[in-house]
Formats: sequence, C-alpha cells, structure tokens
Amino acid sequence: MNAFTPRTKSKVLVDGGDPEETVRVKHLVGYVDGQTTNPTLVSKNPEVRELVSSGQKFSSKEELDEYKKIVQTISSLVGDAGVSIEVYADFDTTAEEMLAQGREMFSWIPNAYIKYPCTHEGLRAAEMSVREGLRVNMTLCFSQEQAAAVYAATKGSKSPVYVSPFIGRLDDRGENGMDLVKNIKQMYAAGDGHVHVLAASVRHLKHLLGSFALKAELVTAPAKVWAEWAASSFPLPGSDFVYQGTDNDDKPLNPIAYKSLDLNRAWESFDIQHDLTTKGIQQFVADYKSTLKRPA
Ligand code: E4P
Repeated sequence: MNAFTPRTKSKVLVDGGDPEETVRVKHLVGYVDGQTTNPTLVSKNPEVRELVSSGQKFSSKEELDEYKKIVQTISSLVGDAGVSIEVYADFDTTAEEMLAQGREMFSWIPNAYIKYPCTHEGLRAAEMSVREGLRVNMTLCFSQEQAAAVYAATKGSKSPVYVSPFIGRLDDRGENGMDLVKNIKQMYAAGDGHVHVLAASVRHLKHLLGSFALKAELVTAPAKVWAEWAASSFPLPGSDFVYQGTDNDDKPLNPIAYKSLDLNRAWESFDIQHDLTTKGIQQFVADYKSTLKRPA
C-alpha cells in the first residue's frame, strides 16, 4: 500500500487482460477500484499469447473459459468499480444473443459489469439488462448522441450505468477526444445521475489529468499510464489546470462542439451511428477470432 497516493475523485481502473498488471498497479498506486477488459486485451494476455503462438488455438468454449478464468482472478483484486467483461458482438449479433452472453458473464463474478457496444442492438441489450438487474458498461462511445441514447435506454437502472467515451481513438484522427468527455459530463449535469462517465482509451498522463479535471466518475488506463502517474509522484490537476489536446506533432486537435440534446427523448430517436464504433467492432471481432481454431 502506498501511503502517499492521493485519492482522486475519479475511480481508478486498469485497462487490461493480465491479472499480473492489476497486481503491479495495486502496488504502485496503493489501490485499484476496478478493471476493464475487451477481446483485444484478452487476446494479449501472456498465457493466451503463448498458447496461440505455439499453435494451440481455442474453441469458442475454451476461449470463454479462458476469459472467465482471467476475470475471476482479477475480480478479487479490485474494488467496487468492478470488472467490465465484454460480450462477443459482430454486426449480426442480436440484442437477445448479447443478453444471453451477458447473463452468463454476470454469473462469473460478484462484481461484473457487462460491456455492450453503443449500437442499436447493444442499446437494446442494455435496456433489457438493466431491467433484470445486470450492471452494464456501454463501450465504443464516440458521440454525445450515443451517450444520450445510453442515458435514455437505461433510465431506471438500480445500479450506476457506465458509458465509456474513447478519448485516444478520437485523438488519433485529429479530434479532441477530451471534448467528448466534457460534453457528455455537461449534458448529464441536467440528468438524474444514473450514468457514470468512464473515460477510456487513455494513452498518456495528460489524458489522465484531463479526465480527473473533468471529474469523470471513473478512468480506465493501461498499467503503463498508471506507472507514469506513480513515477511523476501522482500529480492531480489544480484549479488552474488547462487541458490542451494536441497530436503527436504537438498540433492542436480539432474541437468537438457541444450539442444541446434532450435526455428525455426516446433512445431510438438519437442518431447513434459512428464509424469508429463500426471500426472498433471489426477490430474486436478480428482479435477474438485470432485466438480461435479454424473451423474444420
Ligand atoms: C476500455 O474499456 C477500452 O476497451 C479501452 O480503453 C480501449 O482503449 P484503446 O483505444 O487504447 O484500445
């Protein structure tokens, strides 16, 4: 336990698929509130990688068992922000199929959050999930409209719902991803507080501090970013902190404008299409399949 770590208002989550990283962050920071996983991160788990590189690929059932084993190891290492477990979803997966996976995954550990994509079927799955008491984390969020739809679809949830805006992936294409976090926080200020913002796709210390400054309820970051925070003596943004979104060449990123959206609208009425959500699903499917045996 690190006696010097300040408690941030944002919960600390490790973005990864390797329990050893979670243990390392716990030692460095002194505590870990939660964990986020996804198919890409699980495919990078050292044990999974070793098996795959030695030619031993998994059946779908073995892959699921491996995911379960990883998540069960992480579960007891983290606090009340839980472990986010992502369902398999391609463009043909129905909400009912996602829900069936979600129900099973929810039974794996006592602190599960089920990750569904911010798509029409993902939102339908979330709507059904919260009605039956599953905790959910809506992932691959790239627009304020998607966050508004998450709010509307999950109204009445007994537990906080998470929405995960992906900062780094917006930055990657020249848009200031931190503006999305800011805009969602501003929009939710008029709401009932049932959706918590989980800043995701955090790539470096500046993203971390920017998310803290915006009072994102939770921040998930890879172990190396938490190590960077620890190595810099756990800085926190002061009242004079100004976040400057810049690209790799230090050029300012393009701002994302705030939209005035009515959270009381039906969730289906929001335009939730976003090409980065589509791309994200394609990537997760490819990474998941890279660990699978080819059908005979
Ligand atoms: C968390 O839930 C996300 O899966 C993760 O932060 C994605 O980060 P990346 O854009 O670096 O892959």
